[in-house]
Amino acid sequence: MALFIPFKLIMETESASIYETFKREFDKLVEGTLSLPINIPGTSYHHGFQGRKNVIRMLKGVMEKRRASSMTQDDMLGYLLRNEGSKYNLSDEEILDQVITILYSGYETVSTTSMMAVKYLLDNPRALQQLREEHLAIRQRKNPEDPIDWNDYKSMNFTRAVIFETSRLATVVNGVLRKTTKEMELNGFVIPRGWRIYVYTREINYDPFLYPEPYTFNPWRWLDNSLESHNYCFIFGGGTRLCPGKELGIVQISTFLHYFLTSYRWEEVGSNKIVKFPRVEAPNGLHIRVSKY
Ligand code: HEM
Repeated sequence: MALFIPFKLIMETESASIYETFKREFDKLVEGTLSLPINIPGTSYHHGFQGRKNVIRMLKGVMEKRRASSMTQDDMLGYLLRNEGSKYNLSDEEILDQVITILYSGYETVSTTSMMAVKYLLDNPRALQQLREEHLAIRQRKNPEDPIDWNDYKSMNFTRAVIFETSRLATVVNGVLRKTTKEMELNGFVIPRGWRIYVYTREINYDPFLYPEPYTFNPWRWLDNSLESHNYCFIFGGGTRLCPGKELGIVQISTFLHYFLTSYRWEEVGSNKIVKFPRVEAPNGLHIRVSKY
């Protein structure tokens, strides 16, 4: 789901025919970026390069077919290829870069946060109960087959709080990248102009002065909306580089929670291992038993 949604937004026409093969190669690429950089056959890093080569080959194939066709496509790739109204002509390499960046950024983030929300809700029945009530109230306003819409989404205040609290405790993006545009001094240290800096924002999320009892899952703290816009909240980054997929990501997770909560109950099977550092993951998967609600 987390990869398919942006994939379809980028390549609507091809989404059905090439998605499965594409995902296999893209998964290799993602795995490669999160592995030790040892490029010899058999390592994840090596598979990552092969995955990237195949992803590029497939994307180039789609671009060539589209250029040879007279049909106009109204998806993201269509706009990138037409490049209408833009002062700057993107090269093919830049278009490929845009597509891979969007797919990559929206994939792990959304899927891992959805998984961790399921886990935290399992461990916190009061939060689960309140969340379910919010979603059942939405369903009561609608016919059973009606999909949720933007107004329903905007009414999901507690859902948003659950997603922020999940993202705080299970920080998926550990920091943000920046480049100094001029020499600057910080706490007595001089950072020269042009340096690339990785601003490690993860620990801010566990600061007890900012978030009292920081290791407790407490979605209620986010109901005060100003918390989300504090200048120390870097869950989605900040400034002009703020995550452009922020609302899309929250919509995806909210929609998943809506249908999951209103259709099913779930319980944990066995004891699942969750690792939070250096990246959040369930190395053997999060195993749950699902039954009809
Ligand atoms: C829970 C979900 C998500 C989280 C926690 C998240 C977090 C972040 C963070 C922290 C950054 C760095 C921002 C900065 O440098 O200030 C970022 C960048 C980015 N995100 Fe997200 N993201 C999420 C979902 C998505 C989705 C769904 C998409 C698109 C489909 C997306 C696309 C991007 C892109 C393209 C960038 C790079 C922006 C740039 O460099 O200017 N993200 N995200």
